[in-house]
Amino acid sequence: MVKVSAGSYDLNTWLYGGYENDIVTVLYGGAGSGKTNLCLLAAVSQAKKGNKVTFIDTEGGFSVERVKQLVGEKDGVQEVLKNIFLLKPTSFEEQKKAFVELNKRLKDQIDLIVVDGMTILYRLDFADARDKSDEALQTINSELAKQMKTLAEIARKKEIPVLVTNQIYRWEDEDRMVGGDILKYWGKCLIELVNDKGRRIAYLRKHRSLPEKSLDFQITNSGIKKRGWI
Ligand SMILES: Nc1ncnc2c1ncn2[C@@H]1O[C@H](COP(=O)(O)OP(=O)(O)O)[C@@H](O)[C@H]1O
Ligand SMILES: [Mg+2]
Repeated sequence: MVKVSAGSYDLNTWLYGGYENDIVTVLYGGAGSGKTNLCLLAAVSQAKKGNKVTFIDTEGGFSVERVKQLVGEKDGVQEVLKNIFLLKPTSFEEQKKAFVELNKRLKDQIDLIVVDGMTILYRLDFADARDKSDEALQTINSELAKQMKTLAEIARKKEIPVLVTNQIYRWEDEDRMVGGDILKYWGKCLIELVNDKGRRIAYLRKHRSLPEKSLDFQITNSGIKKRGWI
């Protein structure tokens, strides 16, 4: 099976080679749990090899400074950045347009698609729509479903790996994903990231060929490392 590097030796080992090519992988967790780091790591790893990345950043998490650290070398950062096509929607309407742009760009080479913050702008619209009408709510829900379906189809038909991040919210003592069923359905690999008072853990919650398991990790200048015994 073809996989795309997660950009970290330890993450790749944990995932038996990396993220799968023909599906959408959903990384979810609270603020600061490492979602953007994992996205940047995978993106930089592809861009370094001269591969093309389309990166949709809805929360301004894409940091050139962090990219520089991950690239490691002083030169080469510009080359890496050239291979990353960045789209920065600031409303759910703009996110919809970003997907139109993504579809247009499919005729060119794309080796990895990242949507960092899939439901952030959706969530803002959701609050408005809920106050308006059921139809308004249905409209934005079906737009989110349509975007996830588009990503899943691109992954399956074109074998372009897709990474999506998602937030969680607390409901009756339980952490739930925003846009729950939609993202769970279209994401064939689900990885939960947790920062428990400084102890970072990745949980493989759903995978087509691997069992549920976890990985203690650290975020370092150069990326993600497995945490050894203390
Ligand atoms: N060079 C680094 N070394 C160690 N930790 C870092 C480094 N760069 C960022 N971090 C940590 O990464 C965390 C932010 O992770 P991020 O991927 O932005 O989370 P999320 O996208 O889930 O909100 C912060 O806790 C920050 O301290
Ligand atoms: Mg982030």
